[in-house]
Amino acid sequence: MRLVKTIKEVREIVNGWKKEGLSVGLVPTMGYLHEGHESLIVKSVSQNDKTVVSVFVNPIQFGPNEDLASYPRDIEHDKELVKNAGADLIFNPEPEEMYGKHFTTLVNTTEVSENLCGAKRPVHFGGVCTVLTKLFNIVNPERAYFGQKDAQQLAVVKRFVKDLNFDIEIVGCPIIREADGLAKSSRNTYLNKEERKAALILSKSLKLGKEAILKGERNSSKVIEIITNNLNTEKLAKVDYVSIVDNENIQYVDKIEGEILCAIAVYIGKTRLIDNFIYKCED
Ligand code: PAJ
Repeated sequence: MRLVKTIKEVREIVNGWKKEGLSVGLVPTMGYLHEGHESLIVKSVSQNDKTVVSVFVNPIQFGPNEDLASYPRDIEHDKELVKNAGADLIFNPEPEEMYGKHFTTLVNTTEVSENLCGAKRPVHFGGVCTVLTKLFNIVNPERAYFGQKDAQQLAVVKRFVKDLNFDIEIVGCPIIREADGLAKSSRNTYLNKEERKAALILSKSLKLGKEAILKGERNSSKVIEIITNNLNTEKLAKVDYVSIVDNENIQYVDKIEGEILCAIAVYIGKTRLIDNFIYKCED
């Protein structure tokens, strides 16, 4: 397993692989890797001859008041995890390598990115799709792996790859959780002991919402109310949004039908956490 920091090195290595007819999987990450990232890497290793993991805290997907400076980093730990998961290469560029001094091109996304996190973080998905365009062009993978944890990101990426004709299969992977239900996230490290306990309210509240749907509730507002009321029982939690959308176009739906995404964003203290579930109606 090698770690490289330049675009030129990645291209040389991948070109060598391609000449041998080997397939390449890409797992884009911002590092501080945990079992959620690991599950993506393991999946890629199982489906491709070679796997590249990018570790890059992408500055252009953070808004001015977000946590770019404090975002956790630990490349030594990441190297170990990537090696043990069986990947072949880490691409860990500096921001200057990716954006130089005079970067002026941005990918613009609409519709799928306009609600949920997109409404709260206006520059976010443009920044994500711009860095992914670069990573896709640099690594030239057959497949790229994304977690359902960031459900809107997965929907945006699927659409952007289709709209812009990238010849890359986007593989979605299930949410990996802690034993008590909290979705694994690099940002969980911001939580103190009390907040870590309080953060359980996200998965618990979603569970109540899902149970209501399973019992036959089809009115989105009712399910949103159940989830919101439960979130509000936790004094350290401040709801950012609780929404139900269709899982393809990420548009709000009044009625639960087809495949829906129920997504929440909640502040626990100063830390913004997200979680979700998907439900496919058979009726
Ligand atoms: P990051 O937050 O590091 O996440 C990298 C990938 O890991 C994403 O596809 C995310 O959905 C997945 N992931 C994170 N936690 C997970 C969990 N608990 N279970 C399953 N998958 C999980 O998402 C980004 O980085 C960036 O926006 C990126 C796509 C790399 C572009 O900069």
